[in-house]
Amino acid sequence: MILDRFRVPGKVAVVTGSGRGIGAAAAVALAEAGADVVLSARTQADLEKVAERVARTGRRAHVVPADLSDPAAAGALAAAAVEAFGRLDIVVNNVGGTYPRPLLETTPEFLEEAFRFNVATAHALTTAAVPAMLEAGGGAVVSISSNMGRIAGRGFAAYGTVKAALAHWTRLAAVDLAPRIRVNAIAVGSVATSALDLVTSNAEIREKMESATPLRRIGDPEDVAAAILFLASSAGAYVTGKVLEVDGGLQAPNLDLGLPDL
Ligand SMILES: NC(=O)c1ccc[n+]([C@@H]2O[C@H](COP(=O)([O-])OP(=O)(O)OC[C@H]3O[C@@H](n4cnc5c(N)ncnc54)[C@H](OP(=O)(O)O)[C@@H]3O)[C@@H](O)[C@H]2O)c1
Repeated sequence: MILDRFRVPGKVAVVTGSGRGIGAAAAVALAEAGADVVLSARTQADLEKVAERVARTGRRAHVVPADLSDPAAAGALAAAAVEAFGRLDIVVNNVGGTYPRPLLETTPEFLEEAFRFNVATAHALTTAAVPAMLEAGGGAVVSISSNMGRIAGRGFAAYGTVKAALAHWTRLAAVDLAPRIRVNAIAVGSVATSALDLVTSNAEIREKMESATPLRRIGDPEDVAAAILFLASSAGAYVTGKVLEVDGGLQAPNLDLGLPDL
């Protein structure tokens, strides 16, 4: 059955930033497909709620509250998975993001911080996970990049640059880790999560974003979770070093911050 290839029975996954949004949807999707999941974010109450949803699928969740802007904390999740569940097969590098800013207000420090939060954390967790993945017989890494890493929008120099770095890190790490570990990314468009609340809670802005999106809607976390499951499972067994665009068909930004010409 082809659907069996989307199942991950007995596998163990770490999902960063899994208290809400895309990370929470990914953790629940992986659990529905058969994986035990390590959940990490800063807010324990959110993680406990996601852990309950995982438990309802019949799988186990292990909650690790941590500030993952520190790459060492992200790296430590690999050992936490092995300690809790005895193995590690799947890493979802989901935590990340940074605020848009006018270019001249984007300090070198802001850029470096964004790089650490979006790229260094993914690198730290992935490299820490490699020995356990090899011991498990192989593994899959999926990182969450953005369409802004591919197209240009005013005000997104820091965010777009680090998401582009994460996309190319994916291509490079895939070559280093082939053939036993696959490494892929998803370039996500606009998805209705708390990260986007500020803009999507304004009906006028939301309508503008929707009409500027070829599929005429903002994405759901599950739209991304389905793609994560494809890349993390043996359904994606012949895919590595690729960036899958899950963005409603965007070829240009769907959000204009209204920053004036200098
Ligand atoms: N939503 C979109 O439109 C969109 C578009 C393109 C790409 N993305 C990317 O998708 C990923 C997930 O975004 P989302 O929209 O799902 O965001 P979200 O709904 O705001 O959820 C973010 C999750 O990450 C956790 N988190 C944030 N900062 C953290 C930190 N320093 N340490 C540990 N955990 C932290 C949050 O929990 P705590 O605050 O409790 O820590 C929360 O669980 C990000 O990499 C983002 O750049 C999102």
